[in-house]
Amino acid sequence: MQDAGYVRQAFAGIARRYVVANHVLSLGIDCLWRRTTSKRIAKLAPQRVLDLATGSGDLAQAVQAACPAAKVLGADFSVPMMREAQKRRFHRLVAADGLRLPFQDGAFDVLTVGFGLRNMASWPLALQEMSRVLRPGGSLFVLDFSIPRLPGLRQLYLFYLKNIMPRIAGWITCQRAAYEYLCGSIERFPSGPEMETLIQSNGFQTAHGTPLTFGIASLYEARKAG
Ligand SMILES: C[S@@+](CC[C@H](N)C(=O)[O-])C[C@H]1O[C@@H](n2cnc3c(N)ncnc32)[C@H](O)[C@@H]1O
Repeated sequence: MQDAGYVRQAFAGIARRYVVANHVLSLGIDCLWRRTTSKRIAKLAPQRVLDLATGSGDLAQAVQAACPAAKVLGADFSVPMMREAQKRRFHRLVAADGLRLPFQDGAFDVLTVGFGLRNMASWPLALQEMSRVLRPGGSLFVLDFSIPRLPGLRQLYLFYLKNIMPRIAGWITCQRAAYEYLCGSIERFPSGPEMETLIQSNGFQTAHGTPLTFGIASLYEARKAG
């Protein structure tokens, strides 16, 4: 759980270099994770999709490409981040806080949140709000970083997160402190069965996590009761 004021300020600071930093730090693998998520969503043939914490709109655009018939909307509480989405020609955007979404109950078939839930002030309240705006039987996809469970890899990745990633991101964005905070938040964020339980305790009937790239990231697919 995070301080909303700090998170907003941090993303305003890194917005202009966010996409470049992402691709460099993940060696482009983040694009594959978004594509994997989009392919899963395409199988559900949704009509109305909300990409919450859309930021630069990368996930929203990947979902729109995979589901051409769907109306994909992006929402975020950082206007500077959404300006980056506009620069990348994604314009269906709404300024909104994930904890108080300006949408009616059941407004969406699918809700995605990529690297966003981790940054919200209350994970349970955010998940309950996501459940509220999904229709009965609707699906939630949470994509985020996680810590690999394999012992050697776990230590290596934690070393990278704490010592290397903030330094490289600092060179790219000139905002090293923001990345020190973001990298630290990955270690504190629940993953695997713990995340499945969190999701199921907050408005969802089922939740199933899939580790991606040795568990560096995870994709959770959850369903609201029909
Ligand atoms: C790491 S970026 C993720 C951007 C994009 N989803 C992606 O796949 O790269 C996290 C985004 O979450 C947004 N965010 C954090 N807390 C939020 C909240 N409470 N409501 C709406 N957006 C929030 C931030 O403004 C930021 O744009």
